[in-house]
Amino acid sequence: MGLNVAVTSDLLAALRDDLFSADYTADNLDAVWGSDAASALRRGQREPARRAVDPGPRLGTIATAFVLGLPVDRSRLGDALPLLGVDGAVELGLVRLDGALAFPLLDLRPHAFVDEAGVGGWWIASDLGEAALRHAIPENHVLGVGGASLTLAGLMVGERVDSVLDLGTGCGIQALHSARHSRRVVATDISDRALELAAFNARLNGAAGIETRAGSLFEPVAGERFDRIVSNPPFVITPRTDGVPAYEYRDGGLVGDALVASVIRGAEQHLVPGGIAQLLGNWEYRDGDDGLERVGGWLDSTGLDAWVVEREVQDAALYAETWIRDGGVLPRTDEFDRMYGAWLDDFAARGVTQIGFGYVTLRRPAEGAPTLRRLERLDGQLGHNPTGLGAHISATLAAHDAQHAMTDGGLAAATLVVAGDVTEQRHYWPGDEHPTVMDLRQGGGFGRTFPLGTALAAVVGACDGDLPLGAICAAVADLLDVDGAELLAEVLPSVRELLMVGMLRLG
Ligand SMILES: C[S@@+](CC[C@H](N)C(=O)[O-])C[C@H]1O[C@@H](n2cnc3c(N)ncnc32)[C@H](O)[C@@H]1O
Repeated sequence: MGLNVAVTSDLLAALRDDLFSADYTADNLDAVWGSDAASALRRGQREPARRAVDPGPRLGTIATAFVLGLPVDRSRLGDALPLLGVDGAVELGLVRLDGALAFPLLDLRPHAFVDEAGVGGWWIASDLGEAALRHAIPENHVLGVGGASLTLAGLMVGERVDSVLDLGTGCGIQALHSARHSRRVVATDISDRALELAAFNARLNGAAGIETRAGSLFEPVAGERFDRIVSNPPFVITPRTDGVPAYEYRDGGLVGDALVASVIRGAEQHLVPGGIAQLLGNWEYRDGDDGLERVGGWLDSTGLDAWVVEREVQDAALYAETWIRDGGVLPRTDEFDRMYGAWLDDFAARGVTQIGFGYVTLRRPAEGAPTLRRLERLDGQLGHNPTGLGAHISATLAAHDAQHAMTDGGLAAATLVVAGDVTEQRHYWPGDEHPTVMDLRQGGGFGRTFPLGTALAAVVGACDGDLPLGAICAAVADLLDVDGAELLAEVLPSVRELLMVGMLRLG
């Protein structure tokens, strides 16, 4: 299929109007077949939805063709898309005709979101998946909006900027999100097909300012700098062995985790001072060495502020199984075992025992040397972040800058307040008057827990924006009958950490 977006603008406008008048929204889509069938679809099983859907009404016809990937009666398609018409759908590359039936060539589904700018919805075209094709997807498959896409979109810092680079744009979902807060977006990919679909989706959804460019990694933007870089790169570690498919959507063609290292190392040259890069990645644990430290090694060659959050670690065998299955190969088959062997050989060649996954935030300092290097494991449930984690990430960077700029004396003179989403938990042995464990719980952000000692609990409890920290420490020291300066020195590192993670704020 070739999508000529330049000559299909009118057709895309007709399609947009048809999808709009058919009320083709994410909520309505689930209602077409019910929540159980919707859950089955998310697991890649379309049979419950196929049984539940009535292909007669407009929504049923559109959903049957473009979500379930099933042929529909061509006259029904014409009724469902009256402005575009069947011929327009053929011209756009949405369907091919065979007798009385129209066979879908693309997946096209609604995507609803909430970000800092408000609620919104798009229609996203991508390649038909395995459930629709009834066979393994080809290596040049262009993925729709998946779990990793949603994760990165939710991490995006949303302050208004002039320019964003979306490296490895695929269907263009990050470019679309970026266009909500950026004047222009450059969306790159090695896949021409992905770029066609990204342009198709930008036009279909009326998003302005998105330019697509072909090429690997930072090649298409040589010599250019951006306010933001976002990338859900093809980070899946894949053996470079004959017979193991190299899916463009997940595998950048390099050995091990080298592609993620390249994006991290290359970001600095393409960020303006103060610019931020956000990406997802995998990293290897080799020969018992820590994977996060490995990422730290990549960062050593840059002058970037860095905050890396490892969300998950999988052992090498589980990782291999996950990604072999993702490619549509069934377990307990010879094909599966052959690939499993290739993956395990590849890991063994580099001494890889585990693979980490996480979020990387990089920032080119506005001036001077980097001041932030934070590599941490946070594998628990996230807090409640109705518009995503982006606002929290932005606030964390600002909080780092503010507290880093303050001397200990300055901090002692400052007034602090406990953030509104923080609660204190106390655990008692039954019958005891005093708690055995106390901690602070963060309701939003990463949903952190922070352990409290007696002095810190008393200090934090008094942080209501009234007295300066130093005066609070002096009063608490009096109560506990300890030295005031010593207590201040004891709690200051924790106070800095609580400020950094957003559990305390400068009043
Ligand atoms: C995991 S998909 C991400 C798609 C989309 N940005 C999202 O968030 O859903 C990775 C994309 O990177 C592209 N890609 C693969 N190798 C690349 C490379 N060397 N340089 C740039 N893009 C590449 C793939 O074609 C694919 O579209």
